[in-house]
Amino acid sequence: MGKKYKIALIGAGIIGTAFGYLFKKAGYHILGISSRTFKSAKTSAYLIECPAFNNPLELVKNANLIFLAVPDKEIEVLASLLVKNNTINPGDILIHTSGALSSKVLIKAKDKGAHILSFHPLQSFASFELAIKNLAGTTFAIEGDKEVHPLALKLAKSLKGKILILTEEQKPLYHLGACFASNYLITIINLACELLREAGFAKKEALKNLLPLIKGTLNNLINLGLPKSLTGPISRGDFNIIECQKKTLKKFKPDLFELYKNLSLYTLNLAKEKGKAKEEDLKKISLILNEV
Ligand SMILES: NC(=O)c1ccc[n+]([C@@H]2O[C@H](COP(=O)([O-])OP(=O)(O)OC[C@H]3O[C@@H](n4cnc5c(N)ncnc54)[C@H](OP(=O)(O)O)[C@@H]3O)[C@@H](O)[C@H]2O)c1
Repeated sequence: MGKKYKIALIGAGIIGTAFGYLFKKAGYHILGISSRTFKSAKTSAYLIECPAFNNPLELVKNANLIFLAVPDKEIEVLASLLVKNNTINPGDILIHTSGALSSKVLIKAKDKGAHILSFHPLQSFASFELAIKNLAGTTFAIEGDKEVHPLALKLAKSLKGKILILTEEQKPLYHLGACFASNYLITIINLACELLREAGFAKKEALKNLLPLIKGTLNNLINLGLPKSLTGPISRGDFNIIECQKKTLKKFKPDLFELYKNLSLYTLNLAKEKGKAKEEDLKKISLILNEV
C-alpha cells in the first residue's frame, strides 16, 4: 500500500514514532526518521525498523510525503529550513500534526509547489506503547489543501481511525476543547488526589481509589451523554453540601477556592440543563458560592 509515497518523519517523539511504526505495518515505505538529536532518531528508527538520519535535509530531499511531528513552536521554523535548503519539490506533501495550528504555518512549502496539510489525532499519547494501543478508533482532524484530503483519509484508515475536516478558523477552538477534555481532566484528577491526600490517603492509594469512580463517570458519559451524566450535590440542588464544601476548602485548601467556585458556577448551568434540581435550590447555590 502507498508505494508511491516515500515517507520522511521529522521528530522522533511519541507521535513520530507511533505514526512511523503503524504506517510501516500498514505497508507504507518509511524512508527514514530524523530528530533534533540523533540519539532519539536512532531509538525510533529501531522501533519503526527504518533508517535514522542525522541530517533532516538529507532525508527530506528524497521524500515526497513529509511529516513534521515536532513541538508546535518548531513547526514553522523547520518548514522554513526545509524550503530554504531546496528539499521541498513540486508535488511533495508536507504535513504537521498540531491540533491548534493550521496548515498555514507550512505556507512557504506551497510556494515550492507542495501540498500542505494539518493532520491532528484527537487523542492523548503519553507513551509510544500506549499510543499504538490508543490510536485505533481515533478521529483525525484534517485541514489544508483539498487535493490531499483523499490521502489523509487513507492515512487515517491505515491507523484505524476516521477523519473530520476542519477549517483554519475552527482549529483554535477545536483544540481548546481537546485540551479541556484531556489535559485539564488530568489536572482535575490530580486536584482530586491532592484533596484525598489532605484527608490522609497515601499518594498511590488516592488515585487507585478514585479510578473506579473515573471509569464509572466515563461509562455514564458513553451511555447517557451530556448533561445526563452529571451527578453530585449541584445536580441535586443540595445547597447544604455546597456550604460545607466551601467551608472545608477555605479551611484546608484556600488556594483552590477560586477554581472550585468557577467550576461550580459553570456546573450550575449543566444542572439547569439536566433539570433535576429545583430552580430555587440552584439559586441558593449560586448565592453561597458568590458570598465572600
Ligand atoms: N502527544 C500527544 O498526545 C499529541 C496528540 C496530538 C497531537 N500532538 C502533536 O504532535 C506533535 C508532536 O508531539 P509529540 O507528543 O510527539 O511530542 P514529543 O514526544 O515531545 O516529541 C517531539 C520530538 O520532536 C523533536 N524535535 C524538537 N525540536 C525539533 C527540531 N527543531 N527538529 C527536529 N526534531 C525536533 C524532539 O527531538 P529529540 O527527542 O531529539 O529532542 C522530540 O523527539 C506536536 O505538534 C503535538 O501538538 C501530540
